[in-house]
Amino acid sequence: TADDTIPAQIPPATADSAFLRACRREPVPHTPVWFMRQAGRSLPEYRRVREGIGMLDSCMRPDLVTEITLQPVRRHGVDAAIYFSDIVVPLKAIGLELDIKPGVGPVVDHPFRTREDLARLRPLEPGDVDYVTEAVGMLTAELGATPLIGFAGAPFTLASYLVEGGPSRNHEHTKAMMYGAPDLWADLLDRLADITAAFLKVQIEAGASAVQLFDSWAGALAPEDYRRSVLPASAKVFDAVAPYGVPRIHFGVGTGELLGSMSEAGADVVGADWRVPLDEASRRIGPDKAVQGNLDPAVLFAPREAVEAQARRVLDAARDLPGHVFNLGHGVLPDTDPDALTRLVEYVHEQTAR
Ligand code: CP3
Repeated sequence: TADDTIPAQIPPATADSAFLRACRREPVPHTPVWFMRQAGRSLPEYRRVREGIGMLDSCMRPDLVTEITLQPVRRHGVDAAIYFSDIVVPLKAIGLELDIKPGVGPVVDHPFRTREDLARLRPLEPGDVDYVTEAVGMLTAELGATPLIGFAGAPFTLASYLVEGGPSRNHEHTKAMMYGAPDLWADLLDRLADITAAFLKVQIEAGASAVQLFDSWAGALAPEDYRRSVLPASAKVFDAVAPYGVPRIHFGVGTGELLGSMSEAGADVVGADWRVPLDEASRRIGPDKAVQGNLDPAVLFAPREAVEAQARRVLDAARDLPGHVFNLGHGVLPDTDPDALTRLVEYVHEQTAR
């Protein structure tokens, strides 16, 4: 459609930000920093505004989404905001019965196990998530030159929640379907890819200037299985949003052995966790992509000197990379001291100022 050929309209000052420059592998005034889960329970101001409001309810209120998304930008001076939502929001928006249980995560009332269950996955229409369009508009107006990252869950990680019915250590039902009913599995991932692509498009068309696809649990897969049974669906998502020209980031936990394949799925920036040094991660990802990461979030519980020494190690490993976005190797842990995060942003900015 004509829509698909129109590049996103990013204001020039935003396009010139350190974060978007690093994603495009251009010279930067300093290494940009943002944190996965930078909004959330580590911040007292977050806990205050969320009091008495359920997680999914808060995701559907543009005023709250805007406030919560801005909190870590104000407090830490990070180089990008990430839209406050959750990976299951688009599934809720098409009518699935699911909830997010505090301390547990997404829980699905009737797990997906058979072909009949596919009928519950109807396409996502932009009108299903008007609150997202509204909140992104409010946010870009407030953020000025600071980019807003939109996001979605990748087909595999979403499928795991749907098939297991909730968080899972071993993904046994998910893998049973993947190996035992490969046609059903492929159809499930294909539908999830369409929903995910539609959800990312809404965010980009409303003003998000980058997107991240979270395949948090892909690290549970053997490389061959990832390539055969997961990569095509994630590639479909990246292809669908390519025409907008905004940087596309891809991330999963424990994906050291998958970095090459995840890179092939088509992102412009690939994230790594702390288990792989960034120079080695970049060799696996390839020279034509920026790299994001990868400080162990648990390091933030150590004294300041230790945090800085570990951050230094990340920066040293990233020194010769074509583009580096500093981040943690996974989300901020809820009990993290927010001041440690603010100091880390300052440290990375100081150490990399050019
Ligand atoms: O600041 C940000 O990064 C944006 C907000 C964000 C949330 N979820 C808010 C949230 C993002 C990017 C996500 C993505 C998400 N959600 C992922 C991918 C990233 C990752 O961590 O690997 C996954 C796997 C989920 C599923 C999910 N939702 C989990 C595992 C949890 C935590 C459960 C818990 O309570 O420990 C949630 C709930 C959730 N999503 C919270 C937040 C702030 C906590 C709920 C609350 O504060 O009441």
